[in-house]
Amino acid sequence: MAKKKLKKAAVKAKAKPAAKKPAAKKAAPKAAAKNGNGAARVSKKAFGMDGKALDGVKILDFTHVQSGPTCTQLLAWFGADVIKVERPGVGDITRGQLVDVKGADSLYFTMLNHNKRSITIDSKHPQGMRVLNELIKTCDVLVENFAPGALDRMGLTWEYIHKLNPRMIVASVKGFGPGPYEDCKVYENVAQCAGGSASTTGFRDGPPLVTGAQIGDSGTGLHLALGIVSALYQRIRTGRGQKVLCAMQDGVLNLSRVKLRDQQRLAHGPLTEYSQYGEGIPFGDATPRAGNDSGGGQPGRILKCKGAPEDPNAYIYFITQAPVWGPICDLIGEPGWKTDPEFATPRARLPKLNQIFGRIEDWTMTKTKFEVMNLCNEVDIPVGPILSMKEIADEQSLRDTGTVVEVDHPVRGKYLSVGNPIKMSDSITEVERSPLLGEHTDEILTKVLGFKAYEVAEIKNSGALSAPEKKEKAA
Ligand code: COA
Repeated sequence: MAKKKLKKAAVKAKAKPAAKKPAAKKAAPKAAAKNGNGAARVSKKAFGMDGKALDGVKILDFTHVQSGPTCTQLLAWFGADVIKVERPGVGDITRGQLVDVKGADSLYFTMLNHNKRSITIDSKHPQGMRVLNELIKTCDVLVENFAPGALDRMGLTWEYIHKLNPRMIVASVKGFGPGPYEDCKVYENVAQCAGGSASTTGFRDGPPLVTGAQIGDSGTGLHLALGIVSALYQRIRTGRGQKVLCAMQDGVLNLSRVKLRDQQRLAHGPLTEYSQYGEGIPFGDATPRAGNDSGGGQPGRILKCKGAPEDPNAYIYFITQAPVWGPICDLIGEPGWKTDPEFATPRARLPKLNQIFGRIEDWTMTKTKFEVMNLCNEVDIPVGPILSMKEIADEQSLRDTGTVVEVDHPVRGKYLSVGNPIKMSDSITEVERSPLLGEHTDEILTKVLGFKAYEVAEIKNSGALSAPEKKEKAA
């Protein structure tokens, strides 16, 4: 019902301004109320009290491991009803990976699958397909990150899905887009390497490095979520679904964009903000690894603070930004460098970065990273203390904003998780624990899909929803 109303409003909003062009001034407030997705009213409820952004959206979540689950977890936090389909008896493979509490779902799983419901279905069983068909008819989006071709092998081709439900959006993560590698299975570090991140990470005289941030998996999941909400928005106008594809290689490359920028700059001369320029080391024909140089053109380094190197995280990222060069000189006790032509301009400083950062480090080593941070921020010098995961876990301000949350789980007890990093004033996130394997099978069959009791019994007795071991025992 609500959807029909929205559609009508959208058509009206489109037709009106064209007909009443001369009266544009008067029409403006009305048009504003009906613009965008066609909402014809402005809610009178207090912010945060009028539901969530994706209320009413149903997701058939066929994802596993990290990339896909990151995406559907975000959609769930925005209010979508995420129904996670898992293989009977096994479930998402991460449930049993890196297990820290015997018998409980791993943190790997619980931290990527909040706010979802779980149903177990053997998609290769005819009765399993019967349930999947109903889910396809009911849901708005199917999200999957199987190996290339796996969805087709289940019989769930785009043509099949689109025929059953023309409004269905089919969203996929794959390792590579169309091309020579499209059939490859891909994990995080493969994507980091193939997307250009590894070749540009690390020190010039060392091997390529992968980063701890999961830019291939979680990064691509984020990209996919944006594609899905955009497709949902377009569907309001077109009435039809579409395919959304995010290749992990593409996602990593998007996040490594500045390094492709530098690749092209190389044709016009050396990259002067890279430390190797100041050290007189010639550039090759590809963007080099730049250690801890900043990617933004302002020289930056990680410097020791009081306690280093015994404390592996007693370091701070320090940027000698040109606009704050004066305050930096005053702070480190080198006021003469403000006017000395050898140091006064960014160009003059470039060949002396080792000397300059050495002098700054003499100063930072006399203070803790937090003391350096406080002193620098007083005079608007941006610095980054290297925070350990322990410090982040204990940081009260992150707890206060819900970025770090404590969640209770019936099997593992309390654990910390990262909450929704995207804060919306009218769609408030409440983080709920991840589902147990198949926890919601019955309620989805009856309440979401409307199967009668005898049909549920028929499906269950067929073995389509239970583990093969059980089938063998029963036989
Ligand atoms: N019922 C029956 N079969 C199921 C099922 C279910 N509910 N869920 C999955 N399966 C089957 C699949 O159909 C597939 O069978 P097939 O090979 O006979 O077609 C099989 O399980 C394995 O699926 P697959 O996706 O190949 O898992 P994998 O463990 O072999 O590979 C990845 C894992 C991540 C490498 C692979 O899925 C992949 O490359 N995904 C795309 C990129 C990606 O997201 N990578 C990052 C993950 S964080």
